[in-house]
Amino acid sequence: MTDSTKSLPEAIHLSNYKTPAYLVEFVELRFILDPTATRVVSRVKYVRNPDRTQAEPLILDGEQIKLMSVVLDGTLLDARSFNLSDETLTLDSVPPVFLLEIESEISPATNTALEGLYLSSGNFCTQCEAQGFRKMTYYPDRPDVMARFEVRIEADRSEYPVLLSNGNLIAQGKLDGDRHFVEWQDPFCKPSYLFALVAGDLACIEDKFITRSGREILLQIYVEHRNCELCDHAMLSLKKSMRWDEEVYGLEYDLDRYMIVAVDDFNMGAMENKGLNVFNSKYVLARPEIATDNDFLGVEAVIGHEYFHNYTGNRVTCRDWFQLSLKEGLTVFRDQSFSADLNSAAVKRIEDVRILRQSQFPEDAGPMAHPVRPASYVEINNFYTVTIYNKGAELIRMQQTLLGKETFNQGVRHYLKKHDGQAVTTDDFVIALEECSGRDLIQFRRWYAQAGTPHVALETAYDQQKKEYRLVCRQTCPATPEDIWITSRPYE
Ligand code: SER
Ligand code: ZN
Repeated sequence: MTDSTKSLPEAIHLSNYKTPAYLVEFVELRFILDPTATRVVSRVKYVRNPDRTQAEPLILDGEQIKLMSVVLDGTLLDARSFNLSDETLTLDSVPPVFLLEIESEISPATNTALEGLYLSSGNFCTQCEAQGFRKMTYYPDRPDVMARFEVRIEADRSEYPVLLSNGNLIAQGKLDGDRHFVEWQDPFCKPSYLFALVAGDLACIEDKFITRSGREILLQIYVEHRNCELCDHAMLSLKKSMRWDEEVYGLEYDLDRYMIVAVDDFNMGAMENKGLNVFNSKYVLARPEIATDNDFLGVEAVIGHEYFHNYTGNRVTCRDWFQLSLKEGLTVFRDQSFSADLNSAAVKRIEDVRILRQSQFPEDAGPMAHPVRPASYVEINNFYTVTIYNKGAELIRMQQTLLGKETFNQGVRHYLKKHDGQAVTTDDFVIALEECSGRDLIQFRRWYAQAGTPHVALETAYDQQKKEYRLVCRQTCPATPEDIWITSRPYE
């Protein structure tokens, strides 16, 4: 093997999926914030996965982190007791149940990847989907490891008066030297990609929402002070989303507060971190003098999208990143339905079909073609595509058409109930619809596994004498790079 082949990144295959060797019972994180030297102290209780009969090494993901110390069940480990590589920290031998404390240091100010912990306009913020958490601390950074998180943030009080993380606020107070701390607890188990932390000098716009069972939810939108006046539409959109999900799917918000933070430097539209969404400002800030009708609709749709993820993505999450469309396709379908219900359904449908034809069909016909549930990937960040999102939403829509709206709706409710708190697959979604409807969708599952836009050719003929009308449908699907790659393998 030449050196150049050696450095080729390796593809990850769905067929190689293995359950995690260790599960996490709880995570306690302490962040001592500093732009160039943030201390991250983690206390994590690990339990060997009951599906394992033999001890296995503990392999934690971690990148661009300065490791300070590792303490196993109270004993400080020396450097010979673990293996450190650029991407992992491995402990060869661990007991079946243990507490691991890791102290490390990171530099948010020099992190320009917009992944992990970084600075935007001087404020700290995080982006952990898909694999940003591993840039903050060593952890099994995979969505099928779900745990309860408790987070303590310490920072300078005047520079960073606002300190936010997921869940409910449980404590706050002053520290020596004009510093302060805040503690957050998220009662729901979540994968690391839904973790969030925000710290800075931000203004807060507040409102409240009364759920249909009568619980009062505090709604907060955090923005830079100069943008305070631009949040009314976002707040209204949030309240509409909360009401819509109650009315259409019977889903009520599950924490005491819902926070949205707008930042200027953000890779995607927004991120559905549990209870603490981080948004690209483009999808929060709007007022008639500076925003078009489309901008307003965009804010409404993205606020809805992130809110709807609270169930389709957060309460029921993805087993692995091959299942990305499980949450994205379904949530795009939900935000499309929300926008259609609130505005013109016909116009919304025309726009959605236009996106398919203009962006998704070309993607599916070109070198980037991939199935809605890919079988392999090299870099997961390249898979946030119109195929995963928009074709994924069309697969959901087709299943709604096959089952009828009412049965489909019951099927989604059944899926969410059955898999609450679990990390599952697109197959699990389709199976839940089958269970609820009594329909066999085995053939339909091919839509998830096969790339390309199928062509359907129709021929019609009417025989006047026999009074016979014939309709012949022929379906073909062009070969896509994945098929070609598979069939061409013997010649390599
Ligand atoms: N998960 C994020 C979203 O779709 C990032 O794409 O909302
Ligand atoms: Zn999404």
